[in-house]
Amino acid sequence: MKKVAIFASGSGSNAERITSYFTDSQLISVDLFLSNNPQAGVIERGRRLGIPTVLFDKKTFAKTDKIVDLLKNQHIDYVILAGFLWLIPENLVKAYPDKIINIHPALLPKYGGKGMWGHFVHEAVVANKEKESGITIHFVNERYDEGKVIFQAKFDVLPSDSPDDVAHKVQLLEHKYFPEIIEKLIVN
Ligand code: GRF
Repeated sequence: MKKVAIFASGSGSNAERITSYFTDSQLISVDLFLSNNPQAGVIERGRRLGIPTVLFDKKTFAKTDKIVDLLKNQHIDYVILAGFLWLIPENLVKAYPDKIINIHPALLPKYGGKGMWGHFVHEAVVANKEKESGITIHFVNERYDEGKVIFQAKFDVLPSDSPDDVAHKVQLLEHKYFPEIIEKLIVN
C-alpha cells in the first residue's frame, strides 16, 4: 500500500475527491491532510471523512524539519498539493524527489508563479480574452509552478464566460483527472 498525504489551504474539494476515489483501493490510501489555514474548508472535510488533519504555521513549515519528520514517521510515500498556497521548502522537496504532485488551474507556463492562484488566475484568463484554459498536474520543485509537467487538459473559454464560469470548468476537469493521474503515477 502506498500512502498519500494531501496539503490544502482552502476548500479542499480536490482533497475530498481524491480521498473518495481511493477509499476502496488496495494500492493507495489517503492517510493525512495538512493545512496552513485554520479556517480552511479542508479541515471540516477531514473531520467528516475521518482523515487526521494537521495544522502548521509558517515557521514550522519553512524553517524546521518537523513536517518532513511527521511525513516520514507516518511512512508517507507521496505528497499531493491540492490548492496549497505556500512555497515548498527545500528540505521537503529533497525528502520527496518526484513524489510531490501539484495541480494548477491553468495551462502552465501561462498564468503560473507567486500570486497566480484561484480566482486571480481565472480573472486574468478572462481579462486577456484567452480562447482556452485548462489544468496542469506537475511535479514540484523549489520554485512556484515550474516543476516538470505530468498532464494537461483543456477546455474552450467562450467570450461570454465569466471568471466563475472558468473556475467551474477548471473544477470539473480537476475532479475528473487529478485522482486518475495520481493513480497512474503511483501504480506504474
Ligand atoms: C484548485 O483549483 C487548484 O487547482 C488550485 O486551488 C484550487 C483548490 O480547490 N491550486 P479546492 O480547495 O480543492 O476546492
